[in-house]
Amino acid sequence: MRKIAVFISGEGSNAAKMLRNFSERDGIEVALVYSSKPNKNLKALCEQLGVVFHYSLWNETEKINLLDLCIKLSIDWVVLAGFLKLIPESFLAHFPNKIINIHPALLPKFGGKGMYGMHVHIAVIQAEEVESGITIHYVNGAYDEGQIIRQFRVSISDNETSETLSTKVRVLEHKYFSDTVAELVISAKN
Ligand code: GRF
Repeated sequence: MRKIAVFISGEGSNAAKMLRNFSERDGIEVALVYSSKPNKNLKALCEQLGVVFHYSLWNETEKINLLDLCIKLSIDWVVLAGFLKLIPESFLAHFPNKIINIHPALLPKFGGKGMYGMHVHIAVIQAEEVESGITIHYVNGAYDEGQIIRQFRVSISDNETSETLSTKVRVLEHKYFSDTVAELVISAKN
C-alpha cells in the first residue's frame, strides 16, 4: 500500500477528489491531509473517511513537526494540490522524486513565484495564448520548475475570459489529476 500525504492551502477541491478516488482503489491511500489554513470542509471529509487532517502554520517549527508526522504515518509520496508554499530541502531529501505538484497552466510558461490562482489565467489571456491546460510535475527547490510528468490541454476561444478559462482548467484538474497520481505512484518501483 502506497501512502500519500496531500498538502493544500486553498479550498481543497482537488484533495477532496483524491480522497474519494483513492478510497475506492487498491494499492494507494491518502493517509494525511495537511492544510496551511483552517479548512472545515476538508477536515470533515477526512474525519468521515478516517484520514488524518492536520492544520498548522507553515513556520520553521511546524515544518519539522509536519515532516515528523509524515514519517510517523509512513508516508511514501507527497502531493501538492493548491499548496502555495515552497517545499524545504528537508522534505525534498526525505521524498526524493516523490513530491508532485499540479499547476493550472502549461509549464514552463506561466509558472514561478506569484503565478497561482487567477493570476495564471489572467496572464494566459493577456498573452493571447490559443491553449492552456494543466501540468503535473515533480517538485524541486524552485516554484514550478521540476520535471514535467504529464500535461492536459484545453483550447482558448476568441471570447475567453480568465474566469471561463479558470472553469475549463478546473474541469481538467478534477478529471485527470487523481488518476494520473494513482497510476504514477502505483507503477513506481518503490
Ligand atoms: C488548482 O487550480 C491548482 O492547479 C492550483 O491551485 C488550485 C487548487 O484548487 N495549484 P483547490 O484548492 O484544489 O480547489
